[in-house]
Amino acid sequence: MRDGRRKLWIIVGSMAAVGLGSAAFGYVTAGTRWVWGPVAALAVVALGEVRRLVIRKRHRGAPPVVTENARGWLRAPVTTTDLVVARYELVCPDWPGPDFRIAHVSDFHVNSHLPPDYYRAVMARVAASHPDFIFHTGDFVTKAEYAPLLPDILSAAKGRLGTFAILGNHDYWAGAAQVAAAVRASAITLLDEHPLRVAVGPGAALRIFGYEYPWRGRRWQPPHLAAGEIGLVLTHTPDNIYALRDSGMAAVFAGHYHAGQIKLPLLGPVIVPSSYGRRFDHGHFVFGAPGQHTHLFVTAGVGAAMPRFRILCQPDIFVVDVRGREIQKPGFSEKPGWGALARRHHSSPSEPGHPPKPSGFTECSCAAAAITEKMKSALLAV
Ligand SMILES: [Fe+2]
Repeated sequence: MRDGRRKLWIIVGSMAAVGLGSAAFGYVTAGTRWVWGPVAALAVVALGEVRRLVIRKRHRGAPPVVTENARGWLRAPVTTTDLVVARYELVCPDWPGPDFRIAHVSDFHVNSHLPPDYYRAVMARVAASHPDFIFHTGDFVTKAEYAPLLPDILSAAKGRLGTFAILGNHDYWAGAAQVAAAVRASAITLLDEHPLRVAVGPGAALRIFGYEYPWRGRRWQPPHLAAGEIGLVLTHTPDNIYALRDSGMAAVFAGHYHAGQIKLPLLGPVIVPSSYGRRFDHGHFVFGAPGQHTHLFVTAGVGAAMPRFRILCQPDIFVVDVRGREIQKPGFSEKPGWGALARRHHSSPSEPGHPPKPSGFTECSCAAAAITEKMKSALLAV
């Protein structure tokens, strides 16, 4: 049974059991019609969950092609520093340039409750993926007193073509000026309201936007992209996807939710700080009509805040490999940093003679769903 359907049955079944049990207990002990109040409330919650699952399924993207250190639930309930690295592959047919790799990291919440060595280990893992770009999507600290620690931690990894950042709500609440100064001192480009253009190859450039609404800036104004450009957006809250999704951006990178930070077995996160509840709590989602896809990547972040621990919710960083339409290009796994991991997770033999299947490539479709088995073998065998 698919994971979403199993969760749906668990949620609906749990609600029904609790509601009917409450009603029966209340009827037997009190004999009043008001016992149906809790039943109605639970029914509303259950219907909301059904709606959430339907919407989530509609926008669900492909899972990561490789994950490192992902653990099953209940095996280690306290997961505060149990870092996962997830690698995604993204095909953007409009991209005319060479393949490139993005390391997406978010929500450090640097504080004294986690050892500095943990943060350094996170950045060492980012550096080990050999990214062309590093995107930081905010919440570096929860208190300004920890901002001076940032340069030592963050400067340990640099993107070959650039390292970019925005601030999160906690950075603004702690003191945006101090945090911004520390981020800049880490040799990171802090994005303001003006996008940056980064040439990646002849006639190919990225437009990288920072969008910190609602903590700073105005409502999103759809930008103009020149030929040979694709747009990438760094934003703290994934809630902004509904403003960004129809503006021609290839991908949006966000954090903020911490994937709920505390999860219940089978039921998932208890609280997600979003106007849309748990709809897009974590992972990869796809928006827009075919030909105009905008991809949303929501990382769980690497830190913890309020509370300062994680339960059944591992921190993670995303590594996103982006490429254009051509399917005969060398695989991403030829980039250093993933060879041993790919061998460990993908040991199935290649299929010689199996022809490539270009028909699966739609606009910005995810490579994990589109590439053939032969291409997978080529990508993952080092
Ligand atoms: Fe955060």
